[in-house]
Amino acid sequence: MDRITVDDLTKAGADRPPLAAITAYDYTFARLADEAGVDILLVGDSLGMVVQGEETTLPVTLDQMVYHTRLVARGRRRALIVADLPFRAYKASPAQALDSSARLLAEGGAEMVKLEGGRAMTETVAFLAGRDIPVMGHLGLTPQSIHQLGGFRVQGRDPERAAALVEEALDLERAGARSLILEAVPRELARRVTEAVEIPVIGIGAGPECDGQVLVLHDILGLLEGFQPRFAKRYLDGAGQIRGAVEAFCREVREGSFPTDEHSFE
Ligand code: KIV
Repeated sequence: MDRITVDDLTKAGADRPPLAAITAYDYTFARLADEAGVDILLVGDSLGMVVQGEETTLPVTLDQMVYHTRLVARGRRRALIVADLPFRAYKASPAQALDSSARLLAEGGAEMVKLEGGRAMTETVAFLAGRDIPVMGHLGLTPQSIHQLGGFRVQGRDPERAAALVEEALDLERAGARSLILEAVPRELARRVTEAVEIPVIGIGAGPECDGQVLVLHDILGLLEGFQPRFAKRYLDGAGQIRGAVEAFCREVREGSFPTDEHSFE
């Protein structure tokens, strides 16, 4: 089974089915998702919320991202690994972004880094691309800008903002971005962006016309019951099933029906 390369992913005009991407944060789930056939394992800084229980992605550190990327890399056989640059690790300067990206690639084992932002990030994207760091952009609802945006809400609804977003996508592409995540924008705007740029646009809450789709693993598995974005389809009642399994274990231990001979040594 051949590993997916950055070139495979970003081939312009490639005639292929939409790309399937999922977030992963550790060895076990990365391995399962890879075996299930995802094209991209995204080590998202969403781990701050779904693994660490933080309210936002902002507290996630570069050391944590490197650590989780390493775990994912151990479970990967085929998929391309993209790792998020966390909030405090790239916005200060292109040089800071280069140092952080180099760690995600060299220590973490990622093949591509993802950063959030449009025009303000084009210089950084060009700087990284010129130094052999494949970059994925992220536009629309950018969770690291949560306080500027005023909450997790759909972006680009008004015509001016929508037009600016198309321009920003083109700017990122010209700067050398190899792919783009588009989060929580109206379907029609996502279609415009996807048609405007040649690099693959991977949507999350951006409708079906993108070149691929990404979702957060914990959302599709139904692991966090309190929070489910409208765009995230739940494929499993993971929380219910896991709780049920652990409840059954507790019950059997307490009533003495586990362990039996089958699980004991003579
Ligand atoms: O951090 C993340 O998981 C992401 C996806 C939601 C696209 O950026």
